[in-house]
Amino acid sequence: MIEKSLRPSTLSEYIGQEPLKARLQVYIQAARQREEPLDHVLLYGPPGLGKTTLAMVIANEMGVGLRTTSGPAIEKSGDLLALLNELQPGDVLFIDEIHRMPKTVEEMLYSAMEDFYVDIIAGEGPTARPIHFPLPPFTLIGATTRAGMLSQPLRDRFGIVEHMAYYTTSELAEIIQRSADIFNTTIKESGAIELARRSRGTPRVANRLLRRVRDFAMVKQRDDIDDAMVNFSLDLLKVDSAGLDEVDHKILRTMIEYYQGGPVGVNTIAANIGEEVDTIESMYEPYLLQIGFLQRTPRGRVVTQVAYEHLGLPFVEKKG
Ligand code: ADE
Repeated sequence: MIEKSLRPSTLSEYIGQEPLKARLQVYIQAARQREEPLDHVLLYGPPGLGKTTLAMVIANEMGVGLRTTSGPAIEKSGDLLALLNELQPGDVLFIDEIHRMPKTVEEMLYSAMEDFYVDIIAGEGPTARPIHFPLPPFTLIGATTRAGMLSQPLRDRFGIVEHMAYYTTSELAEIIQRSADIFNTTIKESGAIELARRSRGTPRVANRLLRRVRDFAMVKQRDDIDDAMVNFSLDLLKVDSAGLDEVDHKILRTMIEYYQGGPVGVNTIAANIGEEVDTIESMYEPYLLQIGFLQRTPRGRVVTQVAYEHLGLPFVEKKG
């Protein structure tokens, strides 16, 4: 049997992001009372924190349809026009990784967002003529892991700009209990908290690890997952006590072994460990910064004393 989706479908089912949810609740209620579409929403923050889920929740709470696409999937203006053309009044268009949209597409979006029309040029040379396309009023929800890579004109067209924060251990433990319930499995509070601690503040990670722990528990014929079961499984998965995986370890150890802990530029780190710069900047670095294992300086990233201690390595204070 295909298991039920882990995604919540209403704001009240959605765990965490409390201040953001409280604001959205008001904006949604006000838009509904005015019988207008919700203002355009930009959600930014690290991957796996629920940006797509929240877009689905917003469409559901507004009682409108949702169309989903991503920046790299919209290659030409025509692709965007096709999407916009299918919208019903009030619908939500969700564009994930909106920072990866081609420039020409982005520029077409400006008038669509601001005044609900697009002008396109049909034909070429002397027969080229502009065609004016009115659009139904709609809500654009854009998601990005890299708010800094969005152009100012695009950013300015979002009335609601919200940052998604890492989840606390207790919020993640609650999400894990909810997911375990959907999986028809049980996890003790000690197990949920240990798993939450090692999920890097990220529901997507928590749910992925829960699936794996559930596999281990099933094979070992334990029907109630506790902290010992979580520890046993995560040790095998090479997820350490702080939730760091092998890539995090490679990043920190490379910086320490080859660059005395930094400062090192992210391009240098990427070249050394064979990962994409973008992957490091959007997935790994934000969490290492968040837990204080890395610090950003004008000359590059620096490994902190806490990180040395976590790795069991001697820390030597740098002079000057
Ligand atoms: N599953 C994944 N993220 C969730 C969240 N924020 N709330 C409830 N369930 C979730």
